[in-house]
Amino acid sequence: MLSKKMKQAINEQITREIYSAYLYLSMEAYSIASGLKGFANWFRVQVQEELSHAGKMYDYINQQGGRVILETIDAPPSEFKSPKDLFKKTLDHERKVTAWINGIADQARKENDNATGIFMQWFVTEQVEEEANASEMLQKLELVGDNMGGLFMLDAELAKRVFTPPAPAA
Ligand code: FEO
Repeated sequence: MLSKKMKQAINEQITREIYSAYLYLSMEAYSIASGLKGFANWFRVQVQEELSHAGKMYDYINQQGGRVILETIDAPPSEFKSPKDLFKKTLDHERKVTAWINGIADQARKENDNATGIFMQWFVTEQVEEEANASEMLQKLELVGDNMGGLFMLDAELAKRVFTPPAPAA
């Protein structure tokens, strides 16, 4: 059983994960409008990942006999300066998500809520990958600089990303 505070914390995180999907959907739209189909594909996969994160939390609250309450999703930005700006903002956003996830894991420890502590470990590990992916992309875009050939090669690479659904919550 989840404490009231824990239910609220995970519910808030569901909203943030769905906002993340919304943010990356906006980045996908920007990529399509910029003629970068591979970037668009990378962000579409990211949208699916974020929705799956929200889904894992949604299922967990229900499994624990709690009630999922969905909140308002803010509008994401629609304008970005460049492909590099997309990944700079992605990395900034993922760092915020990491801090929120760590906050919930800390709360679980304080409450001796071992089930939630174990559940949150998956997200702690996932955030390491989320930040690393964005960081790697930013580094590549810095290397590419203003070289259009390099940008299109990177676009072809990003076209290969596929979504692998995570295992459902045990
Ligand atoms: Fe759900 Fe990108 O963290």
